[in-house]
Amino acid sequence: MNDFPSFLSTLRPEVDEALDRLLPDAETEPAEIHEAMRYSVFAGGKRVRPALVVLAGEAWGGARADLLVGGAALEMVHTFSLIHDDLPALDDDDLRRGRPTLHRARGEAMAVLAGDALLNRAYEVLAREPASAPPERRLEAVRLVADAVGTAGMIGGQVFDLQHEGAVRGADADSLERIHRLKTGALIEASTRLGGVYAGAGPGGIEQAGRIGAELGLLFQIGDDILDEVGSSEELGKTPGKDRRAGKLTYPGLFGLEGSRKKAQQAADRCLGLIEGLPSGRGLFRALVAFLVHRGS
Ligand code: IPE
Ligand code: IPE
Ligand code: MG
Ligand code: MG
Ligand code: MG
Repeated sequence: MNDFPSFLSTLRPEVDEALDRLLPDAETEPAEIHEAMRYSVFAGGKRVRPALVVLAGEAWGGARADLLVGGAALEMVHTFSLIHDDLPALDDDDLRRGRPTLHRARGEAMAVLAGDALLNRAYEVLAREPASAPPERRLEAVRLVADAVGTAGMIGGQVFDLQHEGAVRGADADSLERIHRLKTGALIEASTRLGGVYAGAGPGGIEQAGRIGAELGLLFQIGDDILDEVGSSEELGKTPGKDRRAGKLTYPGLFGLEGSRKKAQQAADRCLGLIEGLPSGRGLFRALVAFLVHRGS
């Protein structure tokens, strides 16, 4: 299959089934938080990170059922990062995945706690499942996701992002690239690496998967910046134009729209080069790159 959107729509029900199985039931007490976690997780995200775990893992012969567990855990982490990113203290957004943001719908306290709970649940899942996997493999999964989320990864990137708001401090290309590689790239790199870990790809294979993920992550966030400028709230499910209004350091802000598209294409070309070295699944990976270059949401 060389059509990434079709792959994504075939995979989505499997990812959602894994998420439904691995999240606490909405009725379990305290129901308020379990319902809040599910409100954000099942609001209609694209499920790109789980798809990357599956794509990378299957390139090294991993089992789909195992990969879906890792993918679901990363989607929990990603949803936590979105809930907190939208809080008034961070980006202060009202719309996410086509719905009012969690703090708008359920209050700030529940949004903070639901984010915390999703992150915690993700680690529980990574540590426990797949039960048949050797304990070292589960430990490696926990360690790699913790590194990607932490202050040398996504959270560090969010701090740099906030520090550069208003672009008064060091609005240069290197700082911008660092923000994007960390706040978004780190989790996307963790997705492809995790696929390699579950598939038993070995250190060389995991490294190779990680390098592809890192470039995909940069490409993904350049696309997100472009869409903030050119997309509509119907397409995006979030409020466009926020970056400019908040004075965020972004690719369109620094390079303009055409310059950003060029930077995106350069990242895409680096990905395509790395994809040539994959043991299998090159067609679908190339389709993924094309999807990220042209995506409208
Ligand atoms: C949005 O991610 C936030 C970024 C890290 C750029 P996605 O565009 O993957 O959001 P969903 O999961 O589809 O809602
Ligand atoms: C997202 O960056 C980074 C994380 C959520 C970690 P943005 O702030 O650009 O994401 P959106 O545009 O709100 O989805
Ligand atoms: Mg943000
Ligand atoms: Mg934001
Ligand atoms: Mg954005």
